[in-house]
Amino acid sequence: MGFWGKKKHFERISVDVLQPGMHISVAERWLDHPFLLNEFTLENEEQIRLIIGLGMTNILWCSEASDAAPREVIADRPRGPSWPDLVSQARKERDERRVKADESKKSTALAAKAYTKASKELRNAFSMAYSSPKVALEKAMGIVNEVAGAFSSDQEISIVLLSDRMAKSNLHTHSVNVMLLSLLIAKARDASEQDLKDIGLGALFHDIGMLRVPDAVRMKEESERTSADQSYMQLHTDLGTKMTLNLPDFTAPARSVVAMHHEHYDGSGYPFKLAGEKIPLFARYAAIANRYDNLCNPARLEDAIPPAQALSRMYKIEGSHFDQSALASFIKSMGVYPPGSIVELSNGALGLVTSVNRSNTLRPLVALWQEGVKPEDAPLIDLGVETEVKIVRSLRPADLEPEVREYLNPRARTAYFYSKAVSG
Ligand SMILES: [Fe+2]
Repeated sequence: MGFWGKKKHFERISVDVLQPGMHISVAERWLDHPFLLNEFTLENEEQIRLIIGLGMTNILWCSEASDAAPREVIADRPRGPSWPDLVSQARKERDERRVKADESKKSTALAAKAYTKASKELRNAFSMAYSSPKVALEKAMGIVNEVAGAFSSDQEISIVLLSDRMAKSNLHTHSVNVMLLSLLIAKARDASEQDLKDIGLGALFHDIGMLRVPDAVRMKEESERTSADQSYMQLHTDLGTKMTLNLPDFTAPARSVVAMHHEHYDGSGYPFKLAGEKIPLFARYAAIANRYDNLCNPARLEDAIPPAQALSRMYKIEGSHFDQSALASFIKSMGVYPPGSIVELSNGALGLVTSVNRSNTLRPLVALWQEGVKPEDAPLIDLGVETEVKIVRSLRPADLEPEVREYLNPRARTAYFYSKAVSG
């Protein structure tokens, strides 16, 4: 890892000694500088000319993060006639970058708002599942129709990472997540709009039977559950299926998801031990989405594993449990750096992938870590736009300094929703 996660010591030096390879900070002097980041390693002479052209005479330099030392001052750097152009060009680029960043922030805010609304509706729907099944289903269909409608349109969909600090139980967040991720697989496989609605409804209700499992059993830590508790937990598919029979117009394909999302492709799942194509297609999609969310977003947050690791585990270790071709579609849609990945960029910065779009998975939207900036004000960069920067690798939270880990990996439940505009 670079020096980004560590506390750095800066000293003041003259701009006359700058050279490529030196790591500098411009945060102190200009809040309004035209660079992408407050601190960075100088890559070329042009950046140095830009700094001088902006009127700086001295600057903060970090020796331990630098690949080059200050150079000797031979003479004052000449100031060429093209420098004002360089400065105005850099300012123009900065303004364009800000417009893009604002657009990204707006789409994320819209996704967050839509998620909050859907999540509230779902809580209502679940709480009425026994008392007013008809109203409950109407509410759920409202959510499903809207989301499935967006997924069936030609517009590119981005999966957006949100943190649900309000989540009291994992059931609602998990239900919405499994719906989103199942729809992502279905969209990659060109499902029809009706299919998307059935998958969406089934996935949203896939764990509804958990409402019938006593809290005393459900809330227990997995390690403390007896085999009787375990059997009770496994009954949730059957209990859920029965509940959906009371919901008028709950479709049979949607019900298959509730009944069979724990079947494994190799026949090792439950409750029917079905194998291969005997498992209905939509239940196979939901099984993938369900497992992924349980790995990344488990009941005990400390057991969470990073997104890329979850995908690799599902592919390499648990591969026999899943429909291989559906799993391949899922992995392709999520990309190498799925939402929630902590990544190192080619300019040395660290960030959190907050939004991925299927057509450009290597260039997602990234919230950057910057010392002294609050997480909610984290600069958001769209790698689809900032083409000079790219992701070098993903990191595990354990690799980060505590301060950075806290910032990029907040202990809040992760929710996925969608946006139609980011990098569209
Ligand atoms: Fe389940």
